[in-house]
Amino acid sequence: MFICANCGNEFSKWQGQCSFCKEWNSLKEITRNKFQTTNKKQKTKFNNQKKSEIVNLGDSGLLRRNSPRNDTLLSTGIKEFDRVLGKGIVQGSAVLFAGEPGIGKSTLLTQLIGKVGGIYVAGEESADQIGLRVKRLGLDPKKFDILGTNSIEEIEENLERVKDLFKIAVVDSIQVVMSENLSTGAGSVAQIKESAFRLVNLAKRIGMAIFIVGHVTKEGDIAGPKLLEHMVDTVLYFEGEKTTDLRILRTTKNRFGPIDEVGIFKMEEKGLIEIRNSQLVENIDSKRIGSAITVVVEGARPMLVEIQALVVESFAPMPKRVFSGIDFSRGQLLIAVAQKSLGLPLYKYDVYLSVTGGIKINDTGADLAVMAAIYSSYKNKDLGNYAYIGEVSLLGQVKKVKNWDKRIKEIISLGKKVREIKDVKQLQV
Ligand code: TYD
Ligand code: MG
Repeated sequence: MFICANCGNEFSKWQGQCSFCKEWNSLKEITRNKFQTTNKKQKTKFNNQKKSEIVNLGDSGLLRRNSPRNDTLLSTGIKEFDRVLGKGIVQGSAVLFAGEPGIGKSTLLTQLIGKVGGIYVAGEESADQIGLRVKRLGLDPKKFDILGTNSIEEIEENLERVKDLFKIAVVDSIQVVMSENLSTGAGSVAQIKESAFRLVNLAKRIGMAIFIVGHVTKEGDIAGPKLLEHMVDTVLYFEGEKTTDLRILRTTKNRFGPIDEVGIFKMEEKGLIEIRNSQLVENIDSKRIGSAITVVVEGARPMLVEIQALVVESFAPMPKRVFSGIDFSRGQLLIAVAQKSLGLPLYKYDVYLSVTGGIKINDTGADLAVMAAIYSSYKNKDLGNYAYIGEVSLLGQVKKVKNWDKRIKEIISLGKKVREIKDVKQLQV
């Protein structure tokens, strides 16, 4: 049998080009014998199983039988992590933990094992390297059982053997795990698919929760993790800019809980620290010139953020527009509205916009705050201790956004005042 190393499709004959993904020279032969033996094993297993039958959900306490799932929840010991997972780790679940290299995946999962104990399957790093990290994070080395391998067969064999002793395993990372059955190299699509498939089955079979680390590259080339999303129970993405220390843990799929929760962390010298309150930045002072605060909602969670604007006379033929944390076309649109509705001659001003705390805003509820910050900077005037929420239309009207009440409540609980504004022109007082 031949497998395309690029897309994972199978062929019975060799051909120069894969007819699915059109990649040249990507077909690799896989050793038939081994494949057949595993198939045979699986077959006998299936034969021993009961035949499928149709059941009615109302019958026979079926629901009751299935409900104990909840009893098998295990806390991660990290509240932000628990919330994102639903309520905790579900026994026998397969969790894909994806993120860019260097974002802190290994760090957070090391902290997880440090809290609850478990097996760390280290394919990328040596036991010594993990030891150093454990020491740096101030965790108890006794909680860690390290399996240094990247062979899926060895992982299966070892985890199977110790299934009664451990509830959690971390596999770091899927990109280096490979099977002897396939002759393609580690990291190829065929290897990643095969290894992940077997890890997911293993988790179910032995009742151990397995966290599968997957690297995502910046170019959005997520050949690895994207392929696996449908196989696993839960998909977590760990995001953030490497240049700032803020990290957001997000779920995009969860068979056991909601997918709108986010967990917020800060990467510090001693690992990832949970941020429990909604104020990402300390000492937010909305009375500064060029500053406006707003509440954005990430998942189900309101967060107070500060928008800063710097509007200065431009000496370039094309005035500069430099934004960080704000979508470029959204920012440009808001500048145009400011020009038209507030009469600011921004065509001869450079405009710099940033969101403090290093988060990326993807929420039109922050529009009004961006306008307020621009106005404040242009006029060189502070706008008082207010928070601004609302989406700004092309004509300068301010519209309510989702989670309105939740945002207002957050503002009040943090001791800021809400100013009702229906049109951006009202900023001019
Ligand atoms: P890491 O968890 O290795 O990233 P990933 O597994 O996602 O590739 O973390 C990478 C960075 O985090 C590394 O550059 C160093 C930094 N770091 C800290 O700032 N504090 C810490 O306590 C640790 C362990 C790492
Ligand atoms: Mg890592």
